[in-house]
Amino acid sequence: MESLVDSLPQSGVLALSVALTLYTIYRRWTQISIADIPGPEPESFLLGNLRETLQGQAGEAIQVDFKWQARFGDVVRVKGVLGTNRLMISDPKALQHIYNSGYSIRKSDFRSEITRLLTGPGLAWANDETHKRQRRVNSPAFGANEARSYIPIFAAYASLSANWKENLGGNGSVVVNTPTYFSRFFLDVIGEVAFDYQFGATNDENDALAKALSSIVSPTMSIPSKTGIFIFGLLELLPMGPMRFLMRHAPVPALQNSRRVTRIAVGVAKELVDEKAQALMAGKGKRDIMSLLVKANASENPRTNLSEVEMFAQMQTIMQAGHETTANTMSWTLFALTQHPDIQAKLRAEIMETERAMRVRGDTEYTYADFEAMQYTIALMKETFRFYPVAFNSMRQAARDEVLPLSKPIVTKSGKTLTELPIPKNTLLIISNCGYNRNPDVFGKDAHLFNPERWLDGSVQITTNVGVYGNLMTFGSGHRACIGWRFAVYEYQAFLIELVKNFEFSLDPSLASRVRRQSAVVMIPTLEGEVSKGPQLPITIKAVDAF
Ligand code: HEM
Ligand SMILES: *[C@@H]1O[C@H](CO)[C@@H](O)[C@H](O)[C@H]1NC(C)=O
Ligand SMILES: *[C@@H]1O[C@H](CO)[C@@H](O)[C@H](O)[C@H]1NC(C)=O
Ligand SMILES: *[C@@H]1O[C@H](CO)[C@@H](O)[C@H](O)[C@H]1NC(C)=O
Repeated sequence: MESLVDSLPQSGVLALSVALTLYTIYRRWTQISIADIPGPEPESFLLGNLRETLQGQAGEAIQVDFKWQARFGDVVRVKGVLGTNRLMISDPKALQHIYNSGYSIRKSDFRSEITRLLTGPGLAWANDETHKRQRRVNSPAFGANEARSYIPIFAAYASLSANWKENLGGNGSVVVNTPTYFSRFFLDVIGEVAFDYQFGATNDENDALAKALSSIVSPTMSIPSKTGIFIFGLLELLPMGPMRFLMRHAPVPALQNSRRVTRIAVGVAKELVDEKAQALMAGKGKRDIMSLLVKANASENPRTNLSEVEMFAQMQTIMQAGHETTANTMSWTLFALTQHPDIQAKLRAEIMETERAMRVRGDTEYTYADFEAMQYTIALMKETFRFYPVAFNSMRQAARDEVLPLSKPIVTKSGKTLTELPIPKNTLLIISNCGYNRNPDVFGKDAHLFNPERWLDGSVQITTNVGVYGNLMTFGSGHRACIGWRFAVYEYQAFLIELVKNFEFSLDPSLASRVRRQSAVVMIPTLEGEVSKGPQLPITIKAVDAF
């Protein structure tokens, strides 16, 4: 950082960038105004409300989204840096429109570029034709049948977690910091299923790839300082070109770390491909995701081919999109189960009942039909996805002037009633996945309570379809919803069954009120007063008596 500021040519570049930044912001953001929409007072002209959205706890009833939603409704004006405006959206009709707009309301340039830093030019980065082509290439690996065919692998991996049994102490219990354990564990599952490769991260706390990937969600890296927030806020307002330039060179620790992680992940991807490409040529390739990618790289069909850089980027994308998400969802599930012993017992009862029926049938392995028949388990899964959406928001940007339909009219500060909302080109939209998931008009008056029964007693009222699972925004929506959602759902169910069948979970009661929903790229659990120690959720695990 010092050397960058000290060296003359580079500080020239920096000064030029600053001037360019200010000019572009002036040009792009002095257009039609959405300032008339009600929203929270900004902390300052420089930072707007960004500090609350980026540094604040993502948590419980005081998550900033919930606070603003309760005060201002499902469309909230939020301030960015230098007095600029953006909208936070949790209105179902507006969301449906946004996610049906193709690329005219698109992943924001800033989120795209951050993603590119972390994963290269892959599926989660791309827009327009490139995104369509990459999605086409990846889709065959993530269909319903493919995801179902992984169930036995998920189940086999899940049973490995039973090795906790060997670690139970003399008193029959052990305390596991679940976020760090699951993070390594689910990296191994992705390695096996997507790449037919054993990373071996679960049993190696020093695994270089696992360490690098988890540094991205560490609070020290992902919660920017005041200066960092200001720089991020400026970058967000720039067009792609200058934004990309600055992201690659700006001396912000989170960005520097991302560049480092990418170097490590690409290195691993290259090693895997080298190994795989040979096996494929020798006719030994399995039908896993990587074989599909290697074939796309060899293809000359412009609709379905991938460049070599894109192939590595897909691998990085899957490694990253597919493991901290599932891992933290699992941790949050266990947290919920410790806070609701009755729900935990009910879940275990259904699992045992299902297994009894399977034994009568002469089966030892769960089938897809068994998974689907577990109504209480599915209700619990949906409730967990609803209550703990680890991807708690998404960022979108209007590529042209747009009009958003609204489920409920809004009254502007100047007293106008709007039944639809015109937004100018470039408007940034914070899609509040967590806010929508607690919308009382959809999920009931008790939307802020964790209650799986709502999925069984008809209290969920769907009038506007959004999302790909349970009408939730947890996996996003539309043409760039989570491509791995079925994969995630079955993986999660297999793992949940195995864990709850074997173990009972509890949490030291003095810790429960200290658990924070920390926004750190994904929503991770941390402990109040110990945020800098990183993800923490020390769950006490005790064996369930055989049944
Ligand atoms: C509980 C687990 C998971 C959650 C909550 C989750 C959530 C999400 C969300 C919300 C998005 C959309 C982001 C946006 O609209 O900006 C997304 C995209 C994506 N997810 Fe997941 N995900 C999970 C697991 C997985 C898994 C297991 C994989 C792969 C094996 C995966 C791969 C992807 C990819 C590649 C994208 C980008 C898709 C695109 O832009 O076309 N995810 N995920
Ligand atoms: C059980 O013993 C382990 C050490 O073997 C200890 O860490 C844990 O706190 C004990 N749990 C209870 C509930 O006493
Ligand atoms: C990917 O495709 C390029 C261009 O056809 C080729 O040079 C390269 O060897 C391929 N890489 C692998 C690992 O198959
Ligand atoms: C796909 O193949 C065509 C024809 O060989 C080629 O011109 C194009 O550059 C390839 N695209 C990518 C992304 O590699």
